[in-house]
Amino acid sequence: MKSLELLWLPLLFVLKDVSAQWNVWMPKDISAMTNSCVVIPCSFTYPSGVRPYRGIHGIFYFGHPYPQLFPPVVFKSRTEIVHESFKGRTKLLGDLSQKNCTLLINNVGTEHSGKYYFRADLGGANIYTYPDFTNLQVLDQPNIDVPEEIVSDRSLDLVCYVPDNCPDMIPEIHWMYTDYLPDPVFTPDNVEEGNTAVQSITLTFTPRPMHNGQQLGCRVHYPNTPYIYERIISLDVRYGPRSVWVNVSQEVMEGRSVVLHCDVDSNPVPTITWYFGDEELMSETASNASLFLEDLKPENEGVYTCVGDNGYGSMNTSMYLAVNYPPREPWINESLIALEGTSFTLHCNSKGNPMPTLTWLKDGELVGTITAEEGSVLELNDITPQADGVYRCLAENEHGKASSSLNITVEFAPVLLDDSKCTIVREGVHCICIASGNPEPTIEFHLPDLNITINGSNNRYNFFTHSDHYTSTGIIKLRDKGERGSNGDTGVHVHCSISNIYGSETIRLELQQEKKYMMAVIVGTIGGVAVIAFIIAAVRYVGQNNKKENGNPGQDVGSKVENPSMFYSAVKKDKQSLRKKVLKTELLGSKFNSILEEGTGDDSDYQSVGSVGVMERQELNYAALEFLHGRHRDGSFRRADGDGSDYTEIKTK
Ligand SMILES: *[C@@H]1O[C@H](CO)[C@@H](O)[C@H](O)[C@H]1NC(C)=O
Ligand SMILES: *[C@@H]1O[C@H](CO)[C@@H](O)[C@H](O)[C@H]1NC(C)=O
Ligand SMILES: *[C@@H]1O[C@H](CO)[C@@H](O)[C@H](O)[C@H]1NC(C)=O
Ligand SMILES: *[C@@H]1O[C@H](CO)[C@@H](O)[C@H](O)[C@H]1NC(C)=O
Ligand SMILES: *[C@@H]1O[C@H](CO)[C@@H](O)[C@H](O)[C@H]1NC(C)=O
Ligand SMILES: *[C@@H]1O[C@H](CO)[C@@H](O)[C@H](O)[C@H]1NC(C)=O
Ligand SMILES: *[C@@H]1O[C@H](CO)[C@@H](O)[C@H](O)[C@H]1NC(C)=O
Ligand SMILES: *[C@@H]1O[C@H](CO)[C@@H](O)[C@H](O)[C@H]1NC(C)=O
Repeated sequence: MKSLELLWLPLLFVLKDVSAQWNVWMPKDISAMTNSCVVIPCSFTYPSGVRPYRGIHGIFYFGHPYPQLFPPVVFKSRTEIVHESFKGRTKLLGDLSQKNCTLLINNVGTEHSGKYYFRADLGGANIYTYPDFTNLQVLDQPNIDVPEEIVSDRSLDLVCYVPDNCPDMIPEIHWMYTDYLPDPVFTPDNVEEGNTAVQSITLTFTPRPMHNGQQLGCRVHYPNTPYIYERIISLDVRYGPRSVWVNVSQEVMEGRSVVLHCDVDSNPVPTITWYFGDEELMSETASNASLFLEDLKPENEGVYTCVGDNGYGSMNTSMYLAVNYPPREPWINESLIALEGTSFTLHCNSKGNPMPTLTWLKDGELVGTITAEEGSVLELNDITPQADGVYRCLAENEHGKASSSLNITVEFAPVLLDDSKCTIVREGVHCICIASGNPEPTIEFHLPDLNITINGSNNRYNFFTHSDHYTSTGIIKLRDKGERGSNGDTGVHVHCSISNIYGSETIRLELQQEKKYMMAVIVGTIGGVAVIAFIIAAVRYVGQNNKKENGNPGQDVGSKVENPSMFYSAVKKDKQSLRKKVLKTELLGSKFNSILEEGTGDDSDYQSVGSVGVMERQELNYAALEFLHGRHRDGSFRRADGDGSDYTEIKTK
């Protein structure tokens, strides 16, 4: 329309100057709806020197200006003869004598689209076809002006227009399918441009992403006619991503593969980029993109972000992918050797997802449990020989377990065990010296005139030592009962010296009373190794006996002892020997401990244990009572049902 206007205005100016020439003035372009009519405004001039002869006649040609090409005649003022396709349709509205050649064409069809030339016939040789023409466009649809780019959330004007060049048929124009539009505004307009007219209606609204692909229509109707014209357009609304869908966060086992999907709603199709943290993993221009992750490793755990960007906007959504795995073998300290009384901490760390629970076990028994971010620390304070053992840190989560262990060896100065004594037997005097210590103590016997340090046998004595599990036993058999003090007292002057790198002690061995003969005989014949077995048996008996005690905590100890004389012999022992006994039994290991702590189980009669004989039974009862007066590290006496645990403090880093 604008271009027409620009063309037309200069023509008006030119008109005056050229009015004395052959000139025609008609719109370059004009349009009409099918079945309606069109009035082509037209004026013309001819040279002032020309005098029309027998009036002015006019002809409209269709297509070509030159008669010799026989163009279809649209209208001829001199006759009724016109081309078939214009028969009955054309009428000259203008007055040729007034140089007005305005033409009406009725009931146009698309076949009438084309160029219309005017030819003035002034008589004689003054016949002239003007080269300027009107181009008629016959439409079967209204026109809609759609901007090249429709962007979401920006106000949009859509103009629907129809030619209005038929005075008898005035179009009515409406927008259709606008019900779903937010606040549509309709602005009708009628534009006349150089004698051609256009009716328009502008639809103004703000499109949203949801309107992408929606249809809108413009409908033209001529009242009192059956003629209806419609044009439907589909909206292409550009919008930045308005949703980026990704999988929900999830947990996956290591080694598995996953496919993460990302779906972006945008127009046009976005570029989808997958990031792991800041690292770009893939990029692709599509409405959806799948990220394949194979053989997942713990380091693949993290935030995955999908970014959609199409130039109109950018949007991202993240998800967390957790990679689960069973605990790794825990890191723990190396095995170590520690001196009694020292304190230290043991560290255990393991990786796993979920975070593993760390458990400390000593010789198979629970010492502490903790779930810690960094690890578990086991504090061992002022350790006693019982701290000796295998420490295992067990890491567990729902996907598995792993453990590592270390050995703690506690070294301690020698302690004389109270089985040490001398006994007078028929053959002479037998002395036994038992000491525990780590390193295992060296045992020497000191006679008033002789120090016996190495295994040997001669006509005066027979000496041998044996060491096993932190316990050393030395036995000397003196053939002469007369190894007595030179001053004639009844004591046997045998001293036992026990030593290791942490200390040494020399003790005079007490002489057992005569009633112990039988035992001495047995001990003498079974030998030193038997003594060890003997002690073990005693300890087992203690365990069982003790269980009984635990079952009846309120009962008096004495009333349970079956042999009162044995009880008596036990209680007369001094505190020092009691402590040694406890130490000895505790050192005999976790098996003993577990017997003590298991409240149920094999409750066999102690009699069956005491198969070694009467002397042994006596020893057994004796040991049992001593245990009942066990001693704490702080020196106070305790009941045997105390737990006696020395590892108490567990803390996280
Ligand atoms: C030519 O004739 C038409 C129809 O009568 C009229 O509407 C128009 O104004 C005339 N044009 C001029 C330039 O006089
Ligand atoms: C992510 O979602 C897609 C589509 O719903 C699904 O096919 C795929 O298995 C999902 N991925 C995971 C790891 O769940
Ligand atoms: C993913 O995009 C492809 C084309 O890029 C399309 O054919 C397919 O339907 C899309 N899938 C989904 C779930 O949108
Ligand atoms: C994701 O979007 C947020 C804002 O919504 C932006 O701060 C961040 O930089 C975006 N991340 C990426 C990877 O584009
Ligand atoms: C055990 O290892 C931790 C960490 O290296 C250390 O701090 C600690 O002292 C170690 N403990 C012992 C007894 O060596
Ligand atoms: C601990 O000692 C046992 C033997 O008592 C041994 O078999 C094991 O290998 C030791 N463990 C470590 C970690 O040194
Ligand atoms: C035996 O050893 C002790 C110290 O170890 C020493 O005092 C004593 O004199 C020694 N006796 C003999 C007879 O060598
Ligand atoms: C004495 O003999 C026993 C076994 O015969 C042996 O184990 C021990 O080491 C020996 N002791 C010495 C000091 O030679």
